[in-house]
Amino acid sequence: MRLPPYPRELEVWWWEQARSKWPDWEKEKLLNSIRREVVEQSDRFNKTRSFVPSSYGSRELSILSYGNFFFPRTWQATQYGLAEAYSLRNWRVPTKGPLRILDLGSGSGAGGLSVIHLLRSLGVPNPIMLEAFDYSGKSLAMMKNVHQACRVLWPKSSIKTRRQDLRDAWPELKPGSFDLVLLGFSLNELSEGDSPANHLDWLMGVARHLKPSGVLLILEPADSRTCSNLQQKSSALTSEKPALHQHAPYFNGLPCPFISGKAKYYSHEVRKIIPTGIVDKINAPLHLETRVVKFGLSILGKRKADPVPGGAGVCRLVSPVKKTKGTLSFVGIGADGKEYRYEFQRRDLQREEKNQLMALERGDVIRLPESLQHMEDNRMRVSSTLGMEFLFVPRVSGEIAA
Ligand SMILES: C[S@@+](CC[C@H](N)C(=O)[O-])C[C@H]1O[C@@H](n2cnc3c(N)ncnc32)[C@H](O)[C@@H]1O
Repeated sequence: MRLPPYPRELEVWWWEQARSKWPDWEKEKLLNSIRREVVEQSDRFNKTRSFVPSSYGSRELSILSYGNFFFPRTWQATQYGLAEAYSLRNWRVPTKGPLRILDLGSGSGAGGLSVIHLLRSLGVPNPIMLEAFDYSGKSLAMMKNVHQACRVLWPKSSIKTRRQDLRDAWPELKPGSFDLVLLGFSLNELSEGDSPANHLDWLMGVARHLKPSGVLLILEPADSRTCSNLQQKSSALTSEKPALHQHAPYFNGLPCPFISGKAKYYSHEVRKIIPTGIVDKINAPLHLETRVVKFGLSILGKRKADPVPGGAGVCRLVSPVKKTKGTLSFVGIGADGKEYRYEFQRRDLQREEKNQLMALERGDVIRLPESLQHMEDNRMRVSSTLGMEFLFVPRVSGEIAA
């Protein structure tokens, strides 16, 4: 599956916003200010974890730095998540009438707007209505501006924003009316400390807004604590009444196997992205990782996950492909929710098969060939890629769109 590249219009728009805010500044001065802010925001996500409305999204520099640096990565991460809901998990998109999306902690719209853009690229024709909630009024204003300025990226869509602290009671929304509810990198922030959002009731309240066919798409930063929290909460939601069903990252409604016991790994995605020219310029002296995006993922719904038969014969890669002298191998979670190590003997493989395997990424979902052999423990041996099926192998189209 091909994902559309990050639109050039957005890269130009965000840079122009920054230029026009400080028209007298030399380019390097502007870049340096953005760099300082990017470092501060990274530290806020990773170290200080202090999120209050007055410090986050209330200053122009903070919003414009997010727009120029973090917006493209969040955009691309969200597209990976949505692509999975749409193409692998068989999310039932309505064929008639408007498609309704609720974006909670939307910020300036990287997640919600990327969803609309991807749905349009996938040929979904319905009008799309997006409702975005955030406690940063300035971020919401930016979202409206960018939506208005780049209309060609999201035809037949409308957005409504509401300034709202999501830890407080919300205004009444019609229950069961949204096709998609998105929590894009916001759940961890709004559930910091002793917040109501930390409790399952809060998430159940969010899920009440879903149509019976709708899905809740949650993306989170990739640190182990946040990702484990996400998988633990997702698993707990499946025993609530009425239960939610977990559709991803694994299969058949099964929970992440790493949340029980002392696992060495934790569930997170690592996907390739293409940095914009501006991101490269900002990053030149910072040396941050800009060619991959890492994130935690959970997709939940009111209806049961579609059944995936095949046990160890279908898997989601949860490690990179490892090359040793004799083998190519990776770790995967099978359709039965168990962890397996899949091993290919290199001497059995043609060059093309080796290339095919080396091109697999963590998060890809494949059906293994019938030659799969169960060895001792959780080791599976495969002698050829012949008959292997690529069930979900999303890749971003090569170039930044002109
Ligand atoms: C990391 S940003 C993600 C923004 C956007 N979803 C994206 O993917 O680009 C987290 C967002 O959550 C918002 N947020 C954090 N705590 C919140 C709260 N208690 N109520 C409303 N919004 C909140 C912040 O203002 C910020 O816009």
